[in-house]
Amino acid sequence: MMLKYAYIHTIGCQMNVYDSEQIANGLKTLGYQLTSSLETSDLIIVNTCSIREKAEQKVFSFLGRLDRLKGLKPELIIGVGGCVAQQEGAKLLERVPNVDLVFGTKAIGRLPGLVEKIAVKRCRIVDVKMPEKIEELNILSDAVDEKKVTRFVTIMQGCDNYCSYCVVPYVRGKEISRDPNRILDEIRNLVAAGVKEVTLLGQNVNSYGRKEGLSTFPRLLTQINDIEGLLRIRFTTSHPKDLSDDLMSAFRHLDKLCHHIHLPVQSGSNKILQRMNRKYSREIYLEKVDKLRNICPDIAITSDIIVGFPGETAHDFKSSLNLIRRVEFDGLYAFKYSDRPNAAATRFSQKIGEKEKKERLQQVLDLQDHYTTKKNKALEGSLQLILVEGLSKKQRKAGFQGKARDIQWTGRTSTNKAVNFFQNEDVASFTNITQGQEVHIRVIKAFSHSLWGEPVSVETIPIGLRGEESYVA
Ligand code: 5AD
Ligand code: SF4
Repeated sequence: MMLKYAYIHTIGCQMNVYDSEQIANGLKTLGYQLTSSLETSDLIIVNTCSIREKAEQKVFSFLGRLDRLKGLKPELIIGVGGCVAQQEGAKLLERVPNVDLVFGTKAIGRLPGLVEKIAVKRCRIVDVKMPEKIEELNILSDAVDEKKVTRFVTIMQGCDNYCSYCVVPYVRGKEISRDPNRILDEIRNLVAAGVKEVTLLGQNVNSYGRKEGLSTFPRLLTQINDIEGLLRIRFTTSHPKDLSDDLMSAFRHLDKLCHHIHLPVQSGSNKILQRMNRKYSREIYLEKVDKLRNICPDIAITSDIIVGFPGETAHDFKSSLNLIRRVEFDGLYAFKYSDRPNAAATRFSQKIGEKEKKERLQQVLDLQDHYTTKKNKALEGSLQLILVEGLSKKQRKAGFQGKARDIQWTGRTSTNKAVNFFQNEDVASFTNITQGQEVHIRVIKAFSHSLWGEPVSVETIPIGLRGEESYVA
């Protein structure tokens, strides 16, 4: 088999990151090796996102930049996958003449066959079929060239919730859960390859297996918790309406489950929540937040919020600001509402102007900054157990050089806070820090989006505080 090079450009959410890994797995069977150079590639795949208008614009600007390459190398194959491909289908071939292949969100398993056909026949193909069952690739994930200790694992696809602003049910299809045994096999395989932490992915993991009667999410978590060699489990995203008591208590019972939950609230106004078709009220949301904090006092809670949803009055917006003050999120992703194809809210009246949306977004960001800083500052002086993920961003840029003590590492706390630190030559056990190791770190300084700390020798930590717990010295 002749060696060929593939470049994969991923836009969007973690699920797309996972899908791109699956795409890479499939392409490997055709003899493609991943490259980070556009110029040397024989195949370019763009894995796209259409959740908001801005993400969609990124796709077209990237594709536009490929015209020059295709001119220089006509045999180059350009494929567009993911949500924009699913949404636009054949229209994409008309709109972007340099594209050879459009493959939808359910076509990843068929991708190798499609690429092979194009390479031989030099034809253009659109495959946006949406079968109602999951077509597994039958290859276990190992295509990531860069060694990673944390990986994503998709446990379900699609969504049945039809929030009125959201395009996902239209581009990712009906909710389908993967077989628990396949998920467990995949994770065991990742662990055998050195992975220490998995993040389970789905649009609404809380309803995993319910429709099919396969299993439940808390049961799946318990089985994953039993996998030897795995250190940490995370999951995203949770829908507040399906956050059960059983799942909440998993934060108490499962030792590997990290103390973080992403629980999108979207709005603090009951009127807007109803128009969004979210099926919970502000009161129910707050009740769940309180329950979570009761069960797991140090749990970090992050959320998503949309500003300027059609019909959002100044009063509704104030309710969102109040909710942010009441909850004090550890982190918040805020978005200006944008119309999406097929989504019901696109047809709603009382649209909010761009200027107003921009102002509201800024107010949310400023308010949240205050709480993010406050939460991070509260950790100064505390001891945290972190999983070392690798060299820090700064160090990766600079290369692995200098004295051991000048090497900067990065990892995350169970509560998902990034911590950077230097290797400590004074403490013998820390002259040899490696990726995937768990290390106790004393937090020295909090910044707005990360913490700075130093490794602490385990002997100095009282017995009983050497595990997950953190304490302020
Ligand atoms: N406009 C703005 N934000 C949106 N999101 C989803 N659809 C839209 C839209 N049409 C946001 C929601 C969701 C996150 C992934 O993206 O907050 O939780
Ligand atoms: Fe979209 Fe709502 Fe489904 Fe999330 S739960 S993917 S916001 S429709």
